Amino acid sequence: MRIAVYPGSFDPITNGHLDIIKRASKIYDKLIVGVLDNSSKKPMFSAEDRKKMIDEAINGIDNVTCDVFSGLLVDFAKIKGADVIVKGLRTVSDFEYELQMALLNKALNPEFETMFMMTNTKYSYISSSMVKEVAKYDGELDGLVPKNVITKLKDKNKREI
Ligand code: PNS
Repeated sequence: MRIAVYPGSFDPITNGHLDIIKRASKIYDKLIVGVLDNSSKKPMFSAEDRKKMIDEAINGIDNVTCDVFSGLLVDFAKIKGADVIVKGLRTVSDFEYELQMALLNKALNPEFETMFMMTNTKYSYISSSMVKEVAKYDGELDGLVPKNVITKLKDKNKREI
């Protein structure tokens, strides 16, 4: 059984992330979306809220689950019985950062392979930080994030006004 982990901050999950999840779920027997709970970052949504949004978005994809993790990715992947780390690539700047992380993860635990999937061109310009910016100024979010996330972003903005 081939188990892969797809890690990230997912603050919040975007349609680009969801596309990678759907495509990777066809390649691996089981895909675990790993939401990093990083206390040194200041996310818009708590790790639990980010997980809830992902759970709703992956509802119906049988072999995909989602868990929150803290600490090292390779330790989380090992606990989950995975041997592959899936990452999405959009731009050359993504590549530089991702290469460094892939090499570091290999040095930390050589059992894992990082597999890169190229973004779908439709979603190549979407990032969680851009989405938050658009939401802040009440811009159109349709097509950028799953429908359930649009509601959560709007609720959040209302509460902050
Ligand atoms: O969505 P992001 O913020 O680009 O995801 C980054 C993430 C979560 C994949 C990365 O920060 C990570 O793996 N953090 C866990 C800590 C760790 O293992 N660090 C060493 C390898 S980078």
